[in-house]
Amino acid sequence: SPEQCSRAVAVQRRVDCHPQPGATQENCEARGCTWCTTDVPNAPWCFFPEDSPYGYSLGGNAEKTAKGWRVTLNKRSQLSLFGNDISPVVVDVEFQTKDRLRFKIYDPNTERFEVPLKIDSPGVAVISIYLQITTTVPSTSVYGFGEHEHVSFKHNMDFVTYGMFSRDQAPTPFANLYGVHPFYMCVEDDSNAHGVLLLNSNAQDVSLSPNPSLTFRTIGGILDFYVFLGPTPENVVQQYTEAIGRPHMPAYWSLGFQLSRWGYGSIDVLKETVNRMHRYDIPYDVQHLDIDYMERRLDFTYDKENFAGLPEYLQELKKAGMHNIIILDPFISKDEEPGTYRPYDLGEEMGIWVNNSDGVTPAVGQAWPPGNAVFPDYTNPRTVEWWNQLCLEFKNVLDYDGIWIDMNEPSNFLQGQFPGCADNDINNPPYIPSISDRSLAEKTLCPDSKTYLGEHYNTHSLFGWSQTAPTFHAVQQATGKRAFVLSRSTFVSSGKHGGHWLGDNFSQWKDMHYSIIGMLEFNLFGMPYIGADICGFNYNTTYELCLRWMQLGSFYPFSRNHNEQDPAFFGEEFAKISRATLRIRYSLLPYLYTLFFESHVHGNTVVRSLMHEFTSDQQTRGIDTAFLWGPAFMVAPVLEEASTAIKKHHHTGIK
Ligand code: GLC
Repeated sequence: SPEQCSRAVAVQRRVDCHPQPGATQENCEARGCTWCTTDVPNAPWCFFPEDSPYGYSLGGNAEKTAKGWRVTLNKRSQLSLFGNDISPVVVDVEFQTKDRLRFKIYDPNTERFEVPLKIDSPGVAVISIYLQITTTVPSTSVYGFGEHEHVSFKHNMDFVTYGMFSRDQAPTPFANLYGVHPFYMCVEDDSNAHGVLLLNSNAQDVSLSPNPSLTFRTIGGILDFYVFLGPTPENVVQQYTEAIGRPHMPAYWSLGFQLSRWGYGSIDVLKETVNRMHRYDIPYDVQHLDIDYMERRLDFTYDKENFAGLPEYLQELKKAGMHNIIILDPFISKDEEPGTYRPYDLGEEMGIWVNNSDGVTPAVGQAWPPGNAVFPDYTNPRTVEWWNQLCLEFKNVLDYDGIWIDMNEPSNFLQGQFPGCADNDINNPPYIPSISDRSLAEKTLCPDSKTYLGEHYNTHSLFGWSQTAPTFHAVQQATGKRAFVLSRSTFVSSGKHGGHWLGDNFSQWKDMHYSIIGMLEFNLFGMPYIGADICGFNYNTTYELCLRWMQLGSFYPFSRNHNEQDPAFFGEEFAKISRATLRIRYSLLPYLYTLFFESHVHGNTVVRSLMHEFTSDQQTRGIDTAFLWGPAFMVAPVLEEASTAIKKHHHTGIK
């Protein structure tokens, strides 16, 4: 009743009691929650009452452990939101180092999936720090969570929910994209910053509300929180990468400008493009080969007709000082003539594919190659051997310097593998987080598929991550040099072995702005080797947009144009301006390289928001239209059509 509602929890403090779609007053009250409508956008109408019967209460006294405490919690009532609640649960609180705290909430009686990432905890820390973080009221300056296309670097806290589950999906605001990074940083009003990681790989979502508060929901694994105590934003990232692993040190050449395109079609088009770049004297060091180079899109082959002479041509480019990157996809065609396609035959013999729920028959899906395909399970050490061997052998065919691993969410063009997903609790759990299509199987494999490390339900978002380190080691071994790996799907700690680009963006002005936000976020995630497809990937670009994007993209740490319109396409004037802006980049490469060194050794960001350097200046909290290289160089690009100047303090309007 209106009267009850006037006494209920204030709108900005509400926590959603019915995160599934389809809330009604009836099913809300049936679960013991309060129902009050409101015209505040996105605020929950069904929410936990003040004296909620849900949740857990302390059972007994805290027990002292080597590095902290252990407490047991018991459920307060029989009520259950999702069913199958665990009680009791144990909470371990550990002071891992002087600036890192871990809370691990788990089932003491049954083993559950835990992310196989080893985080060392060398020391025992000082207890007063704990008191500091629990007594401080967090602010609304919250950054991070990924991977999404965020429309502002500083989050809007007005009832926003982000799903996290790796997915082949072109960047769309709010949608769950290619990678998973359940990490955020909060900068408090007194300018102290802290960071929090929820080390969990299951499908999950987080709701931001204006209280300000954060509500995490995950449908598996354990609640394993790590708190990084700052106090500066740079300290937070240093402490985070100390725990998960420092970013790899990129090769110097990979800081040069790079060119790519899907659709070269033939070696002649490739040669023409390369020559045109040189004719216009565009600074340029790296050429990428997208799937066109393959024979019928089959990994570890090249098209001997349309790309006849490719091996020799790559050698020629190398002699001229260039470097070559080839793309590889994680699906292997199973429908070639037996005995003619070694990657499949060898893999089949070694038994390395992701399997169906029976654990023995391979999951069969459909992707780029003709016919149907199987999926290498990189969590299996035998798969790593197989992959390593094929990468080494292929180096003798195409003289690559690095590998671009794409579609590794893993992407499958169907909803689940053949013949579709069975109707069971794993494939259709009681709660599906706020992810696209509210489906765990859309464009990928069924959750009940089996990988070496466990059910795909648990390991899905680790697929790209599990492919990255083995590819890094293969490239290292094949080239004898520092490795280059560019991965589309990433997870916590992927930066140790790879870089990332922001995926299949659109040739639109706003995408240019969002790319700055994505770049800043991946620096928080410990992946500073980051950039977006310059000029945009989907849609056609225009002269003006592409030129402005060349100017911005010249300052992406990973600077690559992956569009039909390369810098030499639009003629002399365009080339002249691109050349000039790229030359500024090139003149600063020693500085950029030094920043990468510092990131590799101390965990600093390479590209950082103004807030990292001017933390006490409140104005910097919402700036995401300009950014810094390290502490000393600011880039403030033109991001709007038909403009030749930028506004001072260009804000995004977020409170
Ligand atoms: C995916 C990649 C894109 C690539 C295309 C073809 O869409 O994200 O970069 O060009 O596949 O390989």
